Amino acid sequence: MSTEEIDDVRKASAEGFASADQIFHPSTDFVQKARVQGLDGYRALYERSIQDLDGFWGDEASQLHWFERWSAVLDESRKPFFRWFVDGKTNIAYNCLDAQIAKGLGDKTAIVYEAEPTEAGSASEIRKITYRELLSEVCRFANVLKGLGLKKGDTVAIYMPMVPELAIAVLACARIGVIHSVVFGGFSAEAIRDRVNDASSKAVITMDGGYRRGKFLALKQTVDEAVAECPSCAHVLVLERHSGKPDPSCQMKPGRDVWYHEAASGVSSECPAEALESNEMLFLLYTSGSTGKPKGIMHSVGGYMVHAYTTNKYSFDLRGDDLFWCTADVGWVTGHTYVVYGPLLNGASVLMYEGAPDAPDFGRFWKIIQDHKVTIFYTAPTAIRAFMKWGDDWLKKHDLSSLRLLGSVGEPINPEAWLWFHKNVGAERCPIVDTWWQTETGGHMITPIPGCTPTKPGSATLPFFGIDAAVLDEHGNETDHGILAIRKPWPGITQGIFGDPQRYIDTYWNRWGGQYYFPGDGAIRDKDGYLWITGRVDDVVNVSGHRIGTAELEAVFIEHEAVAESAVVGVKHELKGQGLMAFVILKSAFAGKVDETDLAKKLNAMVDAKIGKFARPERIVFVPDLPKTRSGKIMRRLLRDISEGRELGNVTTLADPSVVEAIRTKFQSAKA
Ligand code: WT7
Repeated sequence: MSTEEIDDVRKASAEGFASADQIFHPSTDFVQKARVQGLDGYRALYERSIQDLDGFWGDEASQLHWFERWSAVLDESRKPFFRWFVDGKTNIAYNCLDAQIAKGLGDKTAIVYEAEPTEAGSASEIRKITYRELLSEVCRFANVLKGLGLKKGDTVAIYMPMVPELAIAVLACARIGVIHSVVFGGFSAEAIRDRVNDASSKAVITMDGGYRRGKFLALKQTVDEAVAECPSCAHVLVLERHSGKPDPSCQMKPGRDVWYHEAASGVSSECPAEALESNEMLFLLYTSGSTGKPKGIMHSVGGYMVHAYTTNKYSFDLRGDDLFWCTADVGWVTGHTYVVYGPLLNGASVLMYEGAPDAPDFGRFWKIIQDHKVTIFYTAPTAIRAFMKWGDDWLKKHDLSSLRLLGSVGEPINPEAWLWFHKNVGAERCPIVDTWWQTETGGHMITPIPGCTPTKPGSATLPFFGIDAAVLDEHGNETDHGILAIRKPWPGITQGIFGDPQRYIDTYWNRWGGQYYFPGDGAIRDKDGYLWITGRVDDVVNVSGHRIGTAELEAVFIEHEAVAESAVVGVKHELKGQGLMAFVILKSAFAGKVDETDLAKKLNAMVDAKIGKFARPERIVFVPDLPKTRSGKIMRRLLRDISEGRELGNVTTLADPSVVEAIRTKFQSAKA
């Protein structure tokens, strides 16, 4: 992207922020109880953390269990492949379970789970799992994995609904040093296949199915389709959604597929935790970038653990008596860090809900908060905008007085949604933490600290302790309206891209001479030093908080015989934050000869099959040409201008300026 284009994206996404100048101060009540007190307290600890990274993170790490202590907190000698807590031996599952039980939390509820179905019968279910029970289940699961021949260093893919067994599977892998690669349950068979093959995963853990919006989704069938083309995958371990009543459509392939309940019967519920060197790989999680191929983001055992623990503690002011609910799916990094690892590392109780917010009606989330007395509620702007649309009445029917803190993540939150969240969910009493971070960062990077940081609707406020954030221009000069950059390493930083170290360097570390990490987001720093994230400045789009690379969709379309070329751009979307708009050129042999509605349907079906339904574009517009510079580069900002009905920016660099008018005409006529 050119500087001009970046500037354009930033301006477009920054619209609306300027007006929000309200400040919300933490209540005295919160300040008194907070771990760090007031903005001065934050600033003092922040300064200390930046001056002495080793001291700050070393102190945090010391609060966790290590089989052997590290010899160095940070080793920068292989920058940008940083190593944290070098030579330290630990186990994150041990810290989540055994260490909590040792502190006397054995009988405390670790997970409160609610299934989606509500009608009486076997599908509806509420479960409470104590730390001790969770440890037994995790150990049994780990022994089953061992029984399949899996061992430390092997990779296993997990494709499951949002049920406790998903957390158990993840923790079981972590316990024995098996690397987990969770694939979000909305991904298609081909997407699973590519992820299994990229990592040479030796097994897939799945469930016969799960519930979403009243429907039973047969996940195992999708896995069958995927692993038919996965030579490395020797086993598919299948759990039952309804114990004793497997989904009848679930076919088991002899020699490959194993029912979990059969494999687990009679298996011991004791399994020692592997002492892993801090820089061994804990998990892989695939995320979209600006090419067609998703990146396998690697995370370490020790550094990631310390980051998850510390951020969950401070950003959410997490306490022993909290019931923490992060609504993200474990298929995304938010679910890894703030459903599974972070809350358990802090000995808290965490809520897991299987299904959709509108099942059976729009009041489901509020009923869950009321029934279980959720105290901290962490969700996404796209969900908040949906709640706003569904109306305040759904909230008024429920008692939300247990809530004490709210959080937002996934995309910039528009001030209007922030204020609605504050008023209607938080009763003007709960602080809101707008947390900026990414799959690659492992945990929070920019976020208010409740009880310390006054908040402004729409701003992620100030960097977390130990996070050295800057706003830079293209040349690396500090500016107040530019691109977000991170100077110093932090413990949760990715270990790189699996199988492609050079891509890691090129994507994240080549922008400013290797001195800064480039996250791909624009940012504004206001007069108070507050950071306002303005959205992606690369060809990645956040659709409902899900990251999708425009190149991934373009790679799908080009596979159709009628398509000559396409360009996909992100455009503003009322609910999703951003949606995808696809502009497709047909080969001359097909142009004018195909039914466009029909072809659009086919292309959408290809997106469903190759990525997943959630990646479908808002519209596919068939155009005679694309706006290109004389050197042949597509000028995406013009496509965004057309899509959002804006005046066109500078078109003088176009090879053929008449192209944009032709596209605009087609765009508007197709719309009518
Ligand atoms: C991208 C990372 C991190 C968990 C969920 C998404 C955007 C995330 C915020 C926020 C503005 C945000 C950024 C970032 N993003 N949180 N609070 N304010 N933007 O993880 O899929 O790795 O996506 O989400 O654009 O780069 P992810």
